[in-house]
Amino acid sequence: MSKPTYYITTPIYYPSNKLHIGHSYTTVAADAMARYKRLRGYDVMFLTGTDEHGQKIERRAQEDGVTPQAFVDNIVDWIKELWTTMDITYDKFIRTTDTEHKETVQKIFKALYDKGDIYKSEYAGMYCTPCETFFTEHQLVDGKCPDCGRPVERVKEESYFFKLSAYQDRLIKHIEENPEFIQPQTRQNEMLNNFLRPGLDDLCVSRTSFKWGVPVEFDPGHVVYVWIDALSNYISALGYLSHNDEAFKKYWPADVHLVGKEIVRFHTIIWPALLMALELPLPKQIFGHGWLVIDGGKMSKSKGNVVDPSILVSRYGSDAIRYFLLREIAFGQDGNFTNEALITRINSDLANDLGNLTSRTVAMIEKYFEGGVLPEVQEENEFDADIKSLVKTQIQKAEDNVEKLFFNNALEDIWVIIRRLNKYIDETMPWVLAKDEANKAKLAGVLYTLSEGLRIVSIMIEPFMPQTPEKIWAQIGVQRGELTAWDSIHTWGALPKAALAKKGENMFPRIDKEKELEILETANTPKTEIKEEVKQEVKEEPKEVKEADYITIDDFAKVELKIGEVIESARVPKSDKLLVSKIKLGEEVRQIVSGIAKYYSPEEFVGTKVVVVTNLKPVKLRGILSVGMVLCAADESGKLVAVGPLEDVVSGSEVR
Ligand code: MSP
Repeated sequence: MSKPTYYITTPIYYPSNKLHIGHSYTTVAADAMARYKRLRGYDVMFLTGTDEHGQKIERRAQEDGVTPQAFVDNIVDWIKELWTTMDITYDKFIRTTDTEHKETVQKIFKALYDKGDIYKSEYAGMYCTPCETFFTEHQLVDGKCPDCGRPVERVKEESYFFKLSAYQDRLIKHIEENPEFIQPQTRQNEMLNNFLRPGLDDLCVSRTSFKWGVPVEFDPGHVVYVWIDALSNYISALGYLSHNDEAFKKYWPADVHLVGKEIVRFHTIIWPALLMALELPLPKQIFGHGWLVIDGGKMSKSKGNVVDPSILVSRYGSDAIRYFLLREIAFGQDGNFTNEALITRINSDLANDLGNLTSRTVAMIEKYFEGGVLPEVQEENEFDADIKSLVKTQIQKAEDNVEKLFFNNALEDIWVIIRRLNKYIDETMPWVLAKDEANKAKLAGVLYTLSEGLRIVSIMIEPFMPQTPEKIWAQIGVQRGELTAWDSIHTWGALPKAALAKKGENMFPRIDKEKELEILETANTPKTEIKEEVKQEVKEEPKEVKEADYITIDDFAKVELKIGEVIESARVPKSDKLLVSKIKLGEEVRQIVSGIAKYYSPEEFVGTKVVVVTNLKPVKLRGILSVGMVLCAADESGKLVAVGPLEDVVSGSEVR
């Protein structure tokens, strides 16, 4: 009989070599589920990949002076490496730049056009480039993107539209009739009340103002809107509309799309509407998880508060990091990341609870029984019945919770067993039993309960912490096979009575919190090296800074600084120093005169992003009005270099 199938996906990631610990959450969670299902006998398809098209990538590549393809190729290798470091066992890695994917997207677009679900018109409205999302004016919050709070750009172009509005009633009906479709429940209410019931507009699904995307096959001046391109990955990866669609027939519809809460809207409205239009079955579930936050805010590159997962893995191992992520983010909610919380969890849950249970059990068997082998004659005690029934209950609870993707609850269920077993050591006091030869059978019984408990726990943690179980098995004399199969956890007593113990490595050494916090603080702060340099300079040449040299933050706040995009520039007639430029600051365009003509030609200056002082009193230079000033760095020779953002950021963004 063929195995039941299970298809799970993560979102496909924007190519960035700064994927942080928050990004790892979705992938680690999906990996835990994929591993669990494999252990339960499913034929699993676990898909992840990268979302490589769009204006944002095109601009980044342009800034780096490379082609968009070269730009993304570089990063994708790095992302794959990160997933290897995190022990991610994906079955397929899709790139939206894969030829097969692009062809499928084109076929989907054409099929919908032929059907009349996509039509041509003109789009005039707002676009948030970082989110690659269109908005109507009334959806903006204080004139800014309602999702990320950044300024939006006004765009007006001939576009294709998808008849999203036509699917509104069917979507509402589907969500109401299938309460499992959007999970957790709160996200379901949010989608119904905030988006679906107020009414859907048709969706603009092509762009003409940039090139880096999948061209519309029958109208190549247009590229397919990135979200249509991206969402289609879930079926293009299976060969939908290709010469070989076996995987599609086998795995579709997906069992679950695991996504972060900010992209639930795309997955529960646009995606199902597209599938309805294609007359395909809908995924069984979209699960919108919470974020890992820092000081209550989302970890993000632009805020500079990202935590590098590879650093953490190199210090504590991937199991500890995977455990922390899955334990710390409560079902449906955000979880706070601090180095301190991470170390506390490692010390308490891993070193203390699991690590100690293993080392104490193994050490006692070795100490009290010749060759570390338990005798067959064993006696039960008054606590055993409680342990067995607790294990049974906890297994049931943990399985139910994993099925629902409530990983933090499942881990807590497992840790209830671990803590109970540790308490059992204190209750039964093996060291007291060991003093009297008459208690040998009783002592053996206690240590058997501990070993068997450990075997069961080690199997249960495997989906979450794939490296640790082997280490425990090596210490309790178990080899991978029947005794480590998931189903064996339902049979208490499967471990042979003559269990063998052999002390192994300390799996989770206790961490000196204070020392480690200091190391982490520097390791995760990119400014570290600079800080060190400054410190050294200060040591060599102490320089007194008088009170009067400082300005207060209020003084600084008086200066309004913004990112400007130079859209036009020309030499000021009869001046070899001045350029007069049109600089875009979000919605507004200003004329600014700058003394940089010796260092930048107008052609070089156009297209750059610079920092502009926007509240400087306007002045006339050579009779030309200048409203603001472009900031420049000046070296000793007086050479000027315009100051700009290190990474792409939309014009009009505040600099503070
Ligand atoms: N490319 C889109 C998805 C297209 S799917 C058809 C995208 N990419 S992303 O790289 O920005 O995000 C990928 C995943 O990482 C999302 O599920 C997102 O929610 C998740 N996370 C990013 N930061 C996160 C945290 N700080 N915490 C938890 N998850 C986070 O969106």
